[in-house]
Amino acid sequence: MESRRGSRGKGLEPRVSTSTESRQKGQEVVDRSRELCSAGEWLWSSEPMRWRRVFSGCVDQVQAARGFASYLFAGTGREDDVAIVVAELATNAVRHSKSGEGHGWFGLELTLAEVSYIAVTDQGGGRIPTVQFPQPGEEPAMGGRGLLLVSELAIATGIYGSPRVGHTVWADVELRGNNAGSRNRSVTLVV
Ligand SMILES: Nc1ncnc2c1ncn2[C@@H]1O[C@H](COP(=O)(O)OP(=O)(O)OP(=O)(O)O)[C@@H](O)[C@H]1O
Ligand SMILES: [Mg+2]
Repeated sequence: MESRRGSRGKGLEPRVSTSTESRQKGQEVVDRSRELCSAGEWLWSSEPMRWRRVFSGCVDQVQAARGFASYLFAGTGREDDVAIVVAELATNAVRHSKSGEGHGWFGLELTLAEVSYIAVTDQGGGRIPTVQFPQPGEEPAMGGRGLLLVSELAIATGIYGSPRVGHTVWADVELRGNNAGSRNRSVTLVV
């Protein structure tokens, strides 16, 4: 973060150059290609930013993880969707895996990029995370919709790991779109 800020800082000042003609006239010319950038340009022209954070497996840490993600993605326009994805995956970790047992933990990984990677790693011990698709004509169920919601907000989702070593459930969220009309590419790999 520091090095990024340091290197970016230099680029924010417009470069003042002197062309031959203007030098003769003793005038300074502002190089328009190096003008001050907007906040959006500043955010997007940098390399992806990546964070990892470990949370204890207490239920209240779901809210903490959600808030953490929402804070980091503020201003992208998808912060609410990213927060939902994190909340669903973190809830699953504490509810369906050993992460929710005494001294349990789950890990959150976030990469802020045009296609942002969001992943929660748990301690396994339960079943395999499975998207539950409603059957035609089926009454809307009270539960079993979390991973389906995640898959609708993402352009791709996947799972790796196993009940023995724990699972990582991930989602790729496109920040510049709302995924409307895009097809989710789901990948499941269990080792
Ligand atoms: N991290 C996980 N570890 C083990 N099993 C999981 C995990 N996440 C999901 N599952 C399994 O996949 C199923 C579907 O998960 P999903 O989040 O869609 O529904 P749910 O958690 O049962 O209910 P809801 O999210 O709607 O409250 C779960 O019922 C559970 O059996
Ligand atoms: Mg769930």
